[in-house]
Amino acid sequence: MPFQANSPAARDAAFFLHPYTNARAHEENGPMIIERGEGVYVYDDGGKQYLEAMAGLWCASLGFNEERLVKAATDQMRKLPYYHTFAHKAHLPGIDLAEKLIATAPVPMSKVFFAGSGSEANDTVVKLVWYYNNARGRHAKKKFISRIKGYHGVTVASASLTGTPVNHPGFDLPLPGFLHTANPHYYRYGLEGESEEAFATRMADDLEKMILEEGPDTVAAFIAEPIQGAGGVIVPPKTYWEKVQAVLKKYDVLLVADEVICGFGRTGNYWGSETFGMKPDILSCAKALSSSYMPISAVMISDDVYQPIANQSKDLGVLGHGYTYTAHPVCAAVALETLKIYEERDIVGMVRSVSPLFLERLHALGDHPLVGETRGTGLIGAVELVSNKETKEPFAANLMAGVHCANFATNHGLIVRAIGDNIAFTPPLIITNNQVNELFDKMQLALDDTLEMLKKAEAA
Ligand SMILES: Cc1ncc(COP(=O)(O)O)c(C=O)c1O
Repeated sequence: MPFQANSPAARDAAFFLHPYTNARAHEENGPMIIERGEGVYVYDDGGKQYLEAMAGLWCASLGFNEERLVKAATDQMRKLPYYHTFAHKAHLPGIDLAEKLIATAPVPMSKVFFAGSGSEANDTVVKLVWYYNNARGRHAKKKFISRIKGYHGVTVASASLTGTPVNHPGFDLPLPGFLHTANPHYYRYGLEGESEEAFATRMADDLEKMILEEGPDTVAAFIAEPIQGAGGVIVPPKTYWEKVQAVLKKYDVLLVADEVICGFGRTGNYWGSETFGMKPDILSCAKALSSSYMPISAVMISDDVYQPIANQSKDLGVLGHGYTYTAHPVCAAVALETLKIYEERDIVGMVRSVSPLFLERLHALGDHPLVGETRGTGLIGAVELVSNKETKEPFAANLMAGVHCANFATNHGLIVRAIGDNIAFTPPLIITNNQVNELFDKMQLALDDTLEMLKKAEAA
């Protein structure tokens, strides 16, 4: 065991079942303990500094010590630390936040429903869509289509929407009625000689084929992230969204924009939907909604979706859905303050001012012998490691090139995320040009270390 008895690491290994972690490896190796944060940096329990190039889990948009959010939380804790919003009860933070979200929505929206996490938000989406179609008498129109490698959460329904490789095996998922259409990654799945636009047409055609095969009367909604995050930062090919939306319209299939990562400036507009011309009927968001200082998520619905739901709740006597923590006042107060900060500091302007350097340095990594593709928009990006740049041949999975690369980055004081052999970067939106340079200087070192390791492995 690499840790001492009764140390925090030993106690963690003894008692804490970690999410997205190999439990046996964790018993052996223990955790990396993060103790504190400052700006875009976090510090481990040995005092070592790391540039947090993932903003935690694509979320701590204002970095790791925004005092105004601490004050917003403590002020609200003193005033009203908890109250619920069931059965006509309300409180000001919840009211103000709902109004603010509707005011800033990318398309006209009517109502907001609050939950605690992105998964709960998307679970709520599934239930509201089912409720909506029951209200319209379309009892068969219930299926959801999402995309291979889409990420929408881990509750039973949201994990069924999710299409990443690790979320179904072992869990008896997805549930019936949850379908996954093609992943629009041009670099990986574009055919020889196929243009980006032709690829986008093929993706939309595949979606249409799926809807027709299932029967349009059975397909309720299509849910997608404007840019797929956890699937490896897949930036959609040109014309993808206009073609997909035309198909959805044709068959009366709702568009749900999962803005859990893309919302609040990440892509260089306030919403990812704006960046890609998406006109969602329903939008889910979380993470940067509160800069992740408190757990809160939201689902916005258009008036066309709201009206049948409202009628149904009248007929049934109640909308039988809601969480103890729906619009938790402390979480709502922190979210409100976060949105106020975004406005005051012009967060979108900040992203746009630093994004050119971020993308320039990101794309420059494409010259590295290990990097097959670089992709990004705003302040979200990734590099894909390949064993052969010409043929795009991936590394054998057992080499774990991506994991090694992320570990080398950690050694250099940089936290990135390995998604297979893709390395993702989504730093806090407050990152400066100097810190962007630091990020990519360190990443360059990590790539060099990975190359050296792979050469040694090959020679052995
Ligand atoms: C696009 C997207 N949707 C939903 C979720 C689920 O959010 P949570 O982990 O808060 O449940 C995530 C989490 O990363 C996400 O990236």
